[in-house]
Amino acid sequence: MIDEKINQKYLKKIELFQKYNKHYYNLNKPLVDDTEFDKLKSEIINLEKKYNFLNHKESPSNSVGFKPSKIFKKVKHKTAMLSLGNAFSEEDLINFEKKIFNFLNNEPGLNIEYSAEPKIDGISASLFFKDGKFVTGLSRGDGKEGEDITENLKTIADIPLKIKSKDFPNEIDIRGEVFIQNSDFRDLRNKFANPRNAASGSLRQKDPKETEKIPLKFIAYTFGYEKGLEVFSQEDFLKKLKEWGFRTNPLNKMIKTVKNLMKNYKEIEKRRDQIDFDIDGIVYKINDFGLQKRLGNVANAPRWAVAHKFSANSSISKIENIEIQIGRTGALTPVAKIKPVNIGGVVVSNATLHNEEEINRKDIRIGDTVTIERAGDVIPHVISVDLKLRNKNSKKFNFPKNCPFCGSKTVKDFNSTTKKEDAVRRCSSEGYECEKMAIEKIKHFVSKEAFNIDGLGKKIVENFWNLNLIKLPQDIFNLDYLKIESLEGWGKQSVANLKYSINQKKTISFEKFIYALGIRHIGLENAKIISKNLKSLKNFISLSKENNFDNLINIDGIGETQIKSIKNFFKNSTNLHVLKNLESLLIVKNTENQKTNGKLNNKTFMITGKLTNMSRSEAKSLIEQNSGSIVSNVTKKLDYLIVADKPTKRKVDAAKSLKVKILDQGSWLKMIK
Ligand code: IVH
Repeated sequence: MIDEKINQKYLKKIELFQKYNKHYYNLNKPLVDDTEFDKLKSEIINLEKKYNFLNHKESPSNSVGFKPSKIFKKVKHKTAMLSLGNAFSEEDLINFEKKIFNFLNNEPGLNIEYSAEPKIDGISASLFFKDGKFVTGLSRGDGKEGEDITENLKTIADIPLKIKSKDFPNEIDIRGEVFIQNSDFRDLRNKFANPRNAASGSLRQKDPKETEKIPLKFIAYTFGYEKGLEVFSQEDFLKKLKEWGFRTNPLNKMIKTVKNLMKNYKEIEKRRDQIDFDIDGIVYKINDFGLQKRLGNVANAPRWAVAHKFSANSSISKIENIEIQIGRTGALTPVAKIKPVNIGGVVVSNATLHNEEEINRKDIRIGDTVTIERAGDVIPHVISVDLKLRNKNSKKFNFPKNCPFCGSKTVKDFNSTTKKEDAVRRCSSEGYECEKMAIEKIKHFVSKEAFNIDGLGKKIVENFWNLNLIKLPQDIFNLDYLKIESLEGWGKQSVANLKYSINQKKTISFEKFIYALGIRHIGLENAKIISKNLKSLKNFISLSKENNFDNLINIDGIGETQIKSIKNFFKNSTNLHVLKNLESLLIVKNTENQKTNGKLNNKTFMITGKLTNMSRSEAKSLIEQNSGSIVSNVTKKLDYLIVADKPTKRKVDAAKSLKVKILDQGSWLKMIK
């Protein structure tokens, strides 16, 4: 009862906070002065600190500003701002390095050196300099498009506005992290939950004068687009940054071998609390730019870098229940509902148990006392069970043999490569037939990497689902806005905003469209490959009309598993119905031929035999960088067959009979030299 009273008091404050925000940001007419506004913010944050159960998504500790994307102009990054893959253990690092060696074909004498840079937990920004002058500063945004926060960035003393050095490139995006030092954060404690929130909130102030009041810092560590940069390694680039007047991380180090990376990691982790800024791991980058270029990127992260996250904080708690959640592909994930515990400043009440096999392996049961670990942005999970504290009457957990949501049988796939059963159990119903799975599919459809619809978050999708407003993806584009306006929490303005963001997404790239469909095994990378090869939605749909799925096998990177999954997708009548509707409602842009100025200009290649000093993946990536593409079948459409050591005779014969040009590795490399 007391809790309920506190909650009411809290919600009233949140409501008032939203009102102030709306007037400040959207209507440009503040209702109260800054002091009053800040006082309210502190009150909310203090309540949250005192009562762990308080947590509202519109709280100042979760949100920065009111729909800030409306205030700042959106600008495309000339070169995407990538993210990084994560590593948590020595084993992960060994694997990271192994993959690199494989990609580079285990060249003898390959000696990899890393730039090890403690990863500052702030907000990344990209600063465009032209002729030595700071012109535009962007936030990361979704990596492809950021917000123009130039004026706010100009208030940061660490950012030079003019650089006179002769060797400073004519044009360059300098990238780095905006953050607040822990010692400076002390004074901001009652306004923000942590230094990162404080940095992000301050950077997004409407009025740069407000930003100026906050002692923001900037540390530079990489670059994006550039013209005239004459540097060949990360080590030299970091040196140059200093010479040009940027601040760099004093804890950066050059390191060889995984063993030494681990040593440095342990030393820094120990000293973590003595460093005046928050770090959440160490970024390792291959030093040599030549190797970086050869390695290139996968989806949205480079192959040549990784973030080694610091080990998790852990706490002990009790499992109160085990619930089953379902994902968009039907995978059933067991989740432990635990007695809430504070782990490193965050109250944790759920921990993932991953899958059925994990429960069996660790013999996790309801009522067990367990150690829970939480690392950075990773979902908390159970490390171990304390068997000594187990109740004698406890029973083994039985994983449901039927989907708890639709009742269909649950199944485990057999993996034909590993010859083993999958660890994951799935609901066997097809996509939209299982309600819970359908909701997840729609959440995926609107998610950041897919349609990226602002203002249509997970909670709203669920809410609209329950109100029968959205049952299938196409319903998003035929929403009953009048009805929404009458719902609690919605008003004219917020409905207009939603309508605007939905209408904006009616034109979409073919690549994102395929990804949004949420076909199993077709993630970002595969969606990209398919879009590059099939070019249009029409071609995609005709796969099923003409039943010529087998053509997909010619696409390098697409295998039997993906094809089987696409076939299954088209077998389902609801999927066909969804596709047909979306096709008529949306404009799906055809994929344009990439960079037609490359030396291999839209030529197709196939490789047979073992290449010298180069892996298949590297050869493929080299061909693609030069606007060519790889196919895996000899057909009339093949332009060149590259014949390496011990080629498949059948392929060479087929090429000869179809009059396909035959090249050896040397002549092929000459083409791109
Ligand atoms: S390099 C392609 N270097 O980590 C490389 N990032 O998950 C990507 N970060 O968004 C950026 N310290 O905000 C790089 N020394 C460092 C970094 C660093 C922190 C952040 C950055 C980025 C995120 C990647």
